[in-house]
Amino acid sequence: MSNVESIAKKTPASNRIATLSIDGKNVSFPVYDATEGQSVIDITKLYGETGLFTYDPGFLSTASCESKITFIDGDAGILRYRGYDIDALAEKSDYLEVAYLLLNGELPNAAENKNFKRTITLHTMIHEQLHFLFRGFPRASHPMAVMAGAAASLSAFYHDSLDINIPEQRELAAYRLIAKMPTLAAMAYKYSIGQPFIYPQNDLGFSENFLHMMFSTPCEKYAVNPVLARAMDKILILHADHEQNASTSTVRMAGSSGANPFACIGAGIASLWGPAHGGANEAVINMLREIGDVSQIPEFIKKVKDKQSGVKLMGFGHRVYKNYDPRATVLRKTCQEVLAELGKIDEPLLKIAIELEKIALSDEYFVERKLYPNVDFYSGIIYRAMGIPSKMFTVLFAVARTSGWIAQWKEMMEDPKNKIGRPRQLFTGSAPRQFVTLDKRK
Ligand code: CMC
Repeated sequence: MSNVESIAKKTPASNRIATLSIDGKNVSFPVYDATEGQSVIDITKLYGETGLFTYDPGFLSTASCESKITFIDGDAGILRYRGYDIDALAEKSDYLEVAYLLLNGELPNAAENKNFKRTITLHTMIHEQLHFLFRGFPRASHPMAVMAGAAASLSAFYHDSLDINIPEQRELAAYRLIAKMPTLAAMAYKYSIGQPFIYPQNDLGFSENFLHMMFSTPCEKYAVNPVLARAMDKILILHADHEQNASTSTVRMAGSSGANPFACIGAGIASLWGPAHGGANEAVINMLREIGDVSQIPEFIKKVKDKQSGVKLMGFGHRVYKNYDPRATVLRKTCQEVLAELGKIDEPLLKIAIELEKIALSDEYFVERKLYPNVDFYSGIIYRAMGIPSKMFTVLFAVARTSGWIAQWKEMMEDPKNKIGRPRQLFTGSAPRQFVTLDKRK
């Protein structure tokens, strides 16, 4: 069976065919329909038929894989995991239940839920030797540098979950990654401020345990505020997956070569670090600080509109959402709840953020370009109110996204069509030329 036939058999059938006319030759390509959203033209035989590649920098029109995990309708502002709306999950579910859903395709029943939570809880500790890895980093290291290294280094410790061809080992690696990322994240923070590492507590929930590892010390009892634990859990749910974004595509690309899951997640963390992706919430706080006062907003907006300035309104705009980011809608409310709980409703940065949002939503420049607040616009303000330093923001994104990354990696590994990812290029470099020895070069 040809590759095209095998995809067509497994993908919703479509009666449509796309025809490309090139150099007097017509070539037809099958169209596959999605359950929801955009159909795709299967161009796998394009090169064989025409000797041409497609060219699509930034993947503006390219589906890189088939997936059943997450659906986004950017125009309507819809995000669903396995068919469930993100706002329903954020309001009614919890992070570990959502992680189970992403990994397994269905919400767990009561017994599955209990079992999954217990399993994750039993994997939260990290190998004691890993403490020395942390101690090798300068204290001033960016915690994302530490996280990329620490996540990948798990592959040096857990040899019984490295065989990607054994489903049980893949599953064990998934549990370990979801369970250990909050521990690593809290350790990265504690190390940066010179405080002792705090071990996980098995009697605490996932988010509660994370906040406990972040903020408690061995000297005093520390009770996690339940409003903050719930807000953290919601943030984790909202960031858990987002279909084929840059870091997830990085995880899939790394995994396509057969690399182990810990190494793949390390690669995903590196990709997430960039300010156009996961680094944006840190950039939002830096931007709000730079603006400094509500009176400075018009001047700042002027700079944003001036293309020569290179200044962007951080936390606004999205490659996929050309409407309000549904995650931002949930977080806007959570942000107010957290600030009210902490008595920080008059927080100056929040005032700037609210005014900025008001102006941007009515300004022609942003309206025309459909630039709405994205999830990062509010998450940074919530984190700041909780006392989480801005360098840790992207780390929290990585903690949340680990369940999505590993679910996407697992889906790819279980897909019989999985091949090594190997894009091609439009070469515009030099034509062949003769080597000139050093003594003859001008
Ligand atoms: N401020 C000012 N102008 C903007 C912004 C912004 N934040 N975002 C886009 N534009 C302009 C852009 O200059 C372009 O204008 P023109 O048509 O005149 O050239 C137009 O809007 C279209 O933008 P684009 O750059 O083609 O859009 P993109 O899809 O390539 O970029 C983005 C998406 C998220 C990288 C971009 O909007 C951005 O840099 N936003 C700020 C960073 C940010 O908040 N990132 C977090 C994304 S959400 C978290 C996640 O899912 O990773």
